[in-house]
Amino acid sequence: MKTDNKSIKWKGIILAGGSGTRLKPITNIISKQLLPVYNKPMIYYPLSVLMLAGIRDILIITTKENINHFKALLLSGRKLGINLSYKIQKKPNGIAEAFIIGQKFIGKSNVCLILGDNVLYGQGLKAFLKNAMTRSTGSTIFGYPVKDPSRFGIVELDKNNRIKKIVEKPKNSKSNLAIIGLYFYDNSVVKLTKKIKKSHRGELEITDLNKLYHQNSNLNIEIFGRGFAWLDTGTYESLIDASNFIYVAEKRQGLQIACIEEIAYNNGWISKRTLLKISKENSNTDYGKYLLNLVKNK
Ligand code: G1P
Repeated sequence: MKTDNKSIKWKGIILAGGSGTRLKPITNIISKQLLPVYNKPMIYYPLSVLMLAGIRDILIITTKENINHFKALLLSGRKLGINLSYKIQKKPNGIAEAFIIGQKFIGKSNVCLILGDNVLYGQGLKAFLKNAMTRSTGSTIFGYPVKDPSRFGIVELDKNNRIKKIVEKPKNSKSNLAIIGLYFYDNSVVKLTKKIKKSHRGELEITDLNKLYHQNSNLNIEIFGRGFAWLDTGTYESLIDASNFIYVAEKRQGLQIACIEEIAYNNGWISKRTLLKISKENSNTDYGKYLLNLVKNK
């Protein structure tokens, strides 16, 4: 396996489709991924992960009904020093369809896919991301222990912590290691996606794609352990839990989580002047005041 990433370009995809049926009626007229998680729209969280990884070319895939809302919120990305493009997923045909929809966008690059409702938080996240990006071939998935394995893609490891088996939503699983909605793939992802067939639930399953990488001995796994938060936002309860989590963590440390302007500024992608302008636009909120403090302190 090559580990020289000097010549590889990484692009990012956020999949923010679906109809949020488990959050109705809140999602009757608005995308789940635009709902607030405490003080920010949900999509800020996965977007911040891609930005922390240093990825600047990002495709947002969403539904026909919602595409204009996402465009109105994030525009071209210029204010964040990134390039955003948008595409429609006509039907919920599965996560892996993102690579067919995004084929042109991906071009010759490698690609990181993150699900638009995944909230990740923990020290060392950036190092995990950068490490995955040193692999120029193959793929990287991330495992996270959960209490209810039947709700997720699950990975079983052998004694040497190598991947033995991956199963989508197993009824009875020996393993409690869920595969989170963050995936890094080399450029063969498009070709491999075209090989998979729709599952019994009518979707191109990301798990089937990962199985192909596994068969080719090209699937790597990193484990997020204790002290790491991977939060669900798909139900009323998990949505408020995620909000409360962010609220408590931000209040205690006085640090914003998933503050996309801060990340852009720290990455050197936007100037102090731009940051000041954005802080003024948000001056009625703690968010705006936080940005203003960044301008003053650095
Ligand atoms: C999807 C994937 C599953 C993964 C999960 C992470 O599940 O199919 O493998 O563990 O996302 O959020 P779904 O949201 O389609 O139920």
